[in-house]
Amino acid sequence: SAELNPALLPLDWLLGVWESDEPGEGSFSSIPPFRYTETLHFSHVGQPIINFMFNAFHAENKKPMHRECGFIRMQPGGNRVAFIIAQNSGLVEIEEGDLTGQCLTLHTHALARTSFAKEPHVQQISRVFQLRPEGKLEQTVSMAMEGGPLMQHLHITYRRSS
Ligand code: HEM
Repeated sequence: SAELNPALLPLDWLLGVWESDEPGEGSFSSIPPFRYTETLHFSHVGQPIINFMFNAFHAENKKPMHRECGFIRMQPGGNRVAFIIAQNSGLVEIEEGDLTGQCLTLHTHALARTSFAKEPHVQQISRVFQLRPEGKLEQTVSMAMEGGPLMQHLHITYRRSS
């Protein structure tokens, strides 16, 4: 396998495969709280870019649900990080934020959707990835729908599986 590009050293703690250790918790205004499992893959091919795939499943019936994939780029010589994301819901997104140690806080920088996306439309997404001291990875996602406040949509923790 390719040698890690030195530009990725600040993000090397993300690389590998992560499995939700217990089901994540989701909420959205129009439905009761729900639970899901999720597998995250972060890999590289020697470029200063991380490739990622996130696949979520229904916690009880195991059916595939949300999926997203994309690329992570770091600002050369800085601590600015960009996620370039395609989601199976028809959303494409660039999220940007700053890396502080092993905590990454991201906000929507650009967002586009299919012409036939259902309403209401999401306007802003924020997420935090944090590697906890005991080695678990945590992701929290919040979003604001048109004219609404930023509300938490997802919270989940993962353990490293490879
Ligand atoms: C609903 C966005 C990840 C499960 C929604 C809605 C939006 C949204 C905009 C409301 C409109 C709609 O139903 O399409 C996002 C974004 C995500 C994300 C931006 C990632 C950053 C996930 C994940 C799951 C999930 C990982 C896990 C299974 C749901 C469910 C609903 C929902 C169950 C309610 C569905 C419905 O009413 O049809 N999400 N979502 N989402 N999301 Fe997410």
